[in-house]
Amino acid sequence: MTALPGPTVTVDHAQLRSATAGFLAALGVPGPRAQLAAEALVYGDLTGMDSHGVFNLGRLYHPLLASGRAGPAAEPRVLNDLGACVLMDHRRALGLWAAAQSMDLAVARARAHGIGLVSVRGATHLGCAGFHAARAAEAGLLGLVASNCGGQRIASPPGGLPALLGTNPLSVAAPALPGRPFVLDMSTTVVPTGRVRVAAAAGRPVPAGWLADRNGETVTDPAAFDQGKARLRWLGGDPTTGAHKGFGLGLTVELLAALLSGAAVGPAPEALEGDGRPHGTDDDIGLLLLAIDPDLLRAEPGAFAEASRSLFGTVLDCPPLEDGRPVRYPGWPEAERAAERRAHGVPLPRALHHELTALGLELPALEAHR
Ligand SMILES: NC(=O)c1ccc[n+]([C@@H]2O[C@H](COP(=O)([O-])OP(=O)(O)OC[C@H]3O[C@@H](n4cnc5c(N)ncnc54)[C@H](O)[C@@H]3O)[C@@H](O)[C@H]2O)c1
Repeated sequence: MTALPGPTVTVDHAQLRSATAGFLAALGVPGPRAQLAAEALVYGDLTGMDSHGVFNLGRLYHPLLASGRAGPAAEPRVLNDLGACVLMDHRRALGLWAAAQSMDLAVARARAHGIGLVSVRGATHLGCAGFHAARAAEAGLLGLVASNCGGQRIASPPGGLPALLGTNPLSVAAPALPGRPFVLDMSTTVVPTGRVRVAAAAGRPVPAGWLADRNGETVTDPAAFDQGKARLRWLGGDPTTGAHKGFGLGLTVELLAALLSGAAVGPAPEALEGDGRPHGTDDDIGLLLLAIDPDLLRAEPGAFAEASRSLFGTVLDCPPLEDGRPVRYPGWPEAERAAERRAHGVPLPRALHHELTALGLELPALEAHR
């Protein structure tokens, strides 16, 4: 979770979604597309992944659409269709929408073949990978989503100078307890850059373990990242605590999402010129959207769902440590937060609320209407 800093204004989630859809539609995104894209974006705010919610509307998606780096009405094209596997070019369509559509295609193919794989080049930023993976879980299937960051390089290999890879998100989702799917949704670096920038904006230090200088020493000043004085660590920390596992996961995402589909890759020869700071742009992103239908595979309808409820129920029943905090599985905290925010509204930092209303979004404060 990324809590955005400062005093907040609480807004209704449905209002936030429709205002976001209206904003995207005014930029030329066709109505139903704008609705689905807004749902994908506001998923970040509902679930508490605030660094990937409407925080990115003015900062990322507006410039993407206004500059033509994303095509509001671009039509993705199928390049090869083998039934269970499809290769697509998203042709710069808005990733928030197009990734969801491609996962729906993967689900349809999995229902027919047991497995559905959609490999994508030419994509733009998909937002929270978990939103798209969870669509498979909602349909009773397993879903996997991997996205590279196109030609944007943010993180350096352990022991290497130039940045070669993005924060390369990975998500796996499956049905678990009712209304509480398993949704592992994460960057393969220890955090995405958004969380470092949120801390920098708040003027608060980041936990030891997020950033390191070139000698591997801990850095807790988040401003050091954009000053080029600190680098994002991979999951696992440093080489002695498992950084090569996180780095390997980052490369795995690059392989599955971009090398397979023919999208731009981070580790291209020109990347070797980098001085350790982030460089390149996140155009021509590659995606992998995979769905597996367990009922079709096992030919025992309901058996997987029952086993999954048992597995995740056992995890929830795990006795806690002395602090008494219950054990949860990935996806649970986000589902709980979404239920709370659906009922009581989404808190937006005042500065973000101001920024969004200046962009023309109508977002009345919820308290004013109670
Ligand atoms: N599009 C991109 O280029 C890009 C790049 C990086 C990250 N992202 C997105 O940024 C978002 C945030 O990523 P992140 O790495 O900061 O995620 P995070 O650290 O907030 O969460 C990672 C995972 O840990 C689980 N988790 C957290 N606390 C838990 C608890 N107490 N019990 C059980 N499980 C728990 C969450 O459910 C989640 O699956 C994600 O949606 C990700 O897809 C996107």
